[in-house]
Order: sequence, then C-alpha cells, then structure tokens
Amino acid sequence: MRHMNIAIDGPAGAGKSTIAKRLAKELGYIYVDTGAMYRAMAYYFLTHDIAPEDEAAIAAACPSISVTIRYEDGEQQVVLNGENVNGVIRTEEVGNMASATSVYSVVREKLTDLQRRLAAEADVIMDGRDIGTCVLPDAQVKIYLTASIKARAKRRYDELAAKGAACDFDEVERDIADRDDRDMHREVSPLRQAKDAVPVDSSDMGIDEVVEAIRHIIARSGGQGEKA
Ligand code: DC
Repeated sequence: MRHMNIAIDGPAGAGKSTIAKRLAKELGYIYVDTGAMYRAMAYYFLTHDIAPEDEAAIAAACPSISVTIRYEDGEQQVVLNGENVNGVIRTEEVGNMASATSVYSVVREKLTDLQRRLAAEADVIMDGRDIGTCVLPDAQVKIYLTASIKARAKRRYDELAAKGAACDFDEVERDIADRDDRDMHREVSPLRQAKDAVPVDSSDMGIDEVVEAIRHIIARSGGQGEKA
C-alpha cells in the first residue's frame, strides 16, 4: 500500500517545522525536515571555506558529502559524513548559506533522492520549499503555509531574543526578505504554491489554531491527492 505523504511548503519563519512536528506526533507519522538537510550541506561548505558563489567548488565537493538522517526519541538527527550536526546547523549564518547554496541543482539532486526514499518507506509529513511542487508531486495532502513578513520577522526575533542573541528587528526582517527573494526566484525548484496545495495564512493565528486548521484539511482530503 502506498504510504501517506503530507507536504508542507512555505517561506522562512512561517511555522512549518513547529506545526509539522506537532501533527506528525499526533498522527504517528515521521517528520522530515528537509531544510535541515540543506543546512547540513551548507555547514560543510562553510567549514571547508567554499564560497556560495563558487559553483565549481560546490560541484566538486558534492561527491565527498554524505547526508543521512536518523531518529532519536522521535527527533530527526542529521548526520554529515558520520557526524551528527544537529547542534550546529540552526544559526542564521548556516540558514543563509543554505538558502544561497540550495540554488544549485547539484546540491538539490543529492537531497531530493534521499527525501523521496524516505517518503516511499513511511507515512511522512515533510516540510521545505519544493516538496509539493517537485519532491513529492503525488503527495495526498499539500499545504502552503505562509504569514506576513512582519509576523514572520517578529517570530524569528522573539526566538533569537529568547536564546539571548543580540539582534535588531529591522535586520531580522531584511534577512527574511532576502531569503524569500532568493528562495522564490531561483531557477531550480523555486518556492511556490503547488496548484493543488491548500494555502494557510498563519499571520493572525496561534500554533493550536494552525494545527487545527491543517488537521481539518487532512481529514477533508481523505487521503486523495491530485497532481501539481
Ligand atoms: O527551512 P530552513 O530555514 O531550515 O531552510 C534553509 C534553506 O534551505 C532555505 O532558505 C532554502 C533551502 N531549502 C530548499 O531550498 N528546499 C527545501 N526543501 C528546504 C530548504
């Protein structure tokens, strides 16, 4: 029997991972965070002094990079060449590098294969930028989760402030706008809403409300998806 695949795409800071994690737990599905995989590759480039604009060096490095995932207490762990990098990939520096280097198809192809294999093997909720449009075009449920840039910047700012990181609201907002621009306008698999994705705007919604809204969408879909 075909496994159930739920795709959640959307821009940075829309709340995809928080919501996807909660729903995966409720439904007993596996949560696959594809952004973490791009971050692991970015971490490799950063620690090997490879510049994001140096496509030749990135292509040359790709065969020596292995990214895999495993689960510990239900939490996805990303393993880069045998090392668990979960603790070092959540920074803004790595996030921006991931956005800059995910524009290359040599990087995307490596991770897309892994993502498709995971979705073929288990019921998954997978979040990212191109899941409904490219990685899993046959996913039974597709959600496009978004929020205004102000709301997303505020969430990111609060998150950073809670961690005690010094940050400036305008800078956080600019950073998100740059990331949106790059992720939405790159040539390969840009972020966009799949034709059959259901849009959810979480600007004025709390986490519980968003989870509830998406739960309804999943129930309504009855597991029957359409093509992008
Ligand atoms: O979701 P995130 O912030 O962890 O993702 C980091 C970057 O990785 C994002 O800005 C673009 C890239 N990415 C991508 O191109 N495709 C995905 N499916 C997931 C992330």
